[in-house]
Amino acid sequence: MKIKTTALLLSPLLFFNCLYAQVKPVKKTVHHATAASSMARGKIVYTSICLACHMADGGGVPSLNPPITGTEYVLGDKTRLIKIVLNGFKEDVEINGQKFSNSMTPHSDLKDQQIADVLTYVRKSFGNKASTITAAEVKKVRALNK
Ligand code: HEC
Repeated sequence: MKIKTTALLLSPLLFFNCLYAQVKPVKKTVHHATAASSMARGKIVYTSICLACHMADGGGVPSLNPPITGTEYVLGDKTRLIKIVLNGFKEDVEINGQKFSNSMTPHSDLKDQQIADVLTYVRKSFGNKASTITAAEVKKVRALNK
């Protein structure tokens, strides 16, 4: 009788312990997969939309479309960068000693997640090393942008 009670008391503990042990490593994997898949999805968005102007290596086209490698716009303030994708861009800019005055079309039709993915991809590719951008951050900027 005594053994049975102990077993009954212990069994839920063991059960949850098992669950915890199983869930913990799975959670970790999911976290890594999220960052990796944001990059993978971002590459698809980049290839289908941005590549035409900024080229496969992010080097742009001389005197037409600026490079997006190591520029303050890409590496700097996230809000400004998100707004470039939402609103397009038409400012005379000088990047790496070259002037650009062509205009970039807006891409506000993209979903928050797609903008987050493509900007994460851009900020971590072509030699760029900047932090990720999340869909929540894009959502905030889009709301203030209206
Ligand atoms: C139709 C061509 C075109 C497309 C498509 C395009 N851009 Fe641009 N982009 C430009 C031009 C042109 C400028 C500079 C505008 C100016 O001179 O005022 C620019 C500027 C930028 C800038 C700021 C300047 C710099 O070089 O850092 C960023 C960042 C950028 N684009 C990212 C993107 C991303 C990300 C996409 C895809 C979602 C994209 N662009 C799609 C033409 C384009």
